[in-house]
Amino acid sequence: MKQKEDCRETNVTTSVFGSQEMLKSAPVDKMPQKPTTPEIAYQMVKDETYAQTQPRLNLATFVTTYMDSYATKLMNDAIAINYIDETEYPRVAVMCAKCINIIANLWNTPEKAKWKAGALGIGSSEACMLGGVAAWQRWKKRRQAEGKPCDKPNFVISSGYQVVWEKFAQLWQIEMRTVPLTAEKLTLCPKEAVAMCDENTICVVPIQGVTWTGLNDDVKALNDELDEYNKKTGYDIPIHVDAASGGFILPFLEPEKEWDFRLKWVLSISTSGHKYGLVYPGVGWVVWKDKKYLPDSMSFSVNYLGADVTQVGLNFSRPAAQILGQYYQFIRLGFEGYKAIQQNSMEITKYLHSEIGKMKPFRNYSEDVTNPLFIWEMKEEYMRKGKWTLYDLQDKLKQNGWMVPAYTLPAKLEKTIVMRLVVRNGFSRDMADQLLSDISAAVEELDKLQYPTPSRIAIESNVKVKGTVYTHTGKG
Ligand SMILES: Cc1ncc(COP(=O)(O)O)c(C=O)c1O
Repeated sequence: MKQKEDCRETNVTTSVFGSQEMLKSAPVDKMPQKPTTPEIAYQMVKDETYAQTQPRLNLATFVTTYMDSYATKLMNDAIAINYIDETEYPRVAVMCAKCINIIANLWNTPEKAKWKAGALGIGSSEACMLGGVAAWQRWKKRRQAEGKPCDKPNFVISSGYQVVWEKFAQLWQIEMRTVPLTAEKLTLCPKEAVAMCDENTICVVPIQGVTWTGLNDDVKALNDELDEYNKKTGYDIPIHVDAASGGFILPFLEPEKEWDFRLKWVLSISTSGHKYGLVYPGVGWVVWKDKKYLPDSMSFSVNYLGADVTQVGLNFSRPAAQILGQYYQFIRLGFEGYKAIQQNSMEITKYLHSEIGKMKPFRNYSEDVTNPLFIWEMKEEYMRKGKWTLYDLQDKLKQNGWMVPAYTLPAKLEKTIVMRLVVRNGFSRDMADQLLSDISAAVEELDKLQYPTPSRIAIESNVKVKGTVYTHTGKG
């Protein structure tokens, strides 16, 4: 007998998988006409993400995928709080200022003021933009005072830049001058960077934790080179350090290394709280060496929130939960706790680096491991006779739930296909062993192939192979 449709009409007693909705596709371009129960809506949304990688097996991302249950509770409790409503939630604004103070001190700020100059961002991208805009505004103000033209600003960075700098250049129409990375020069060459500077250079941007390779540009050498150049020319070209990853690694693991405000020309630094700052996405931070380097033109006041509120940032509304998460981590872990976590991540990275370096097909891109990530490539002789590529290995590992991206390096090195591993809080030595065993098994299987894989054929015929698009490779 044909079942009457209305016996499945949705009401409070409807079972999720006995409902009409489960017979239909989820909405693509139009809202459904009628409401449904929360259980059904929940199930539909949840199921859409069901087959995705487990976040902690995603070794492509730098972004935090593990926080303890107290942090998670604090953040969930604050999910309805809008950071910008400072009058309603004044303690959140104070907590944010305390986080800026703590980070500024980690980076050896010389600023004596009680509240250090800094801003919250939704991630490093916003923080980089704010650092870049401040440098541009300072340059413009000085040029205007000197009666000089301001229509051709530029900044200098290595070709290992993250896509945010391309956005910065495009959105603000500031020329991006890139120093090429090569097989011999794996990080920004200070001399070449300074050779690209002129009176229109707003800043030079070294990176701590280059997205593509995990290496650090030498900020001290750049500072020294710039110092000479500035003395010679009378310019005041500063440094903005993009320390998206390194900003929360260096203070704990290499406290003696001078890369931060101890250097004369470093006037601003940005980082991601949601990377090695150990907070769920999205939170970023930018700090200036002193209030005088944060132009007034970047502070906006509004009076309709119940008081005069001054704000620096691209976004207006933003979640407050991440601030609670960041402040919690500072209290819970303290300096020693952060150090222990970063040290473990580094040790596990070095272990993986050494084990992968021993595998027959592979060669590590660099002998150094300076941040908890590294890349490797296929040995040339293996490339010549092999039937597969790192893209195939990426696919094989995906079958076991791992996300380990393969991609090509930036301009001048674009023929080099590499694979990258990012180790974060929440990744143990035992997980590393499981991964190594899955890599070995995948290699063994791939080595048995009689015929070349499509990605191998494409490479041989010089066709660009597109891997999955990863938002955390430089080009994203
Ligand atoms: C060096 C560098 N800068 C900026 C960013 C952008 O960071 P976010 O994803 O926090 O916006 C990244 C992200 O990976 C990065 O590696």
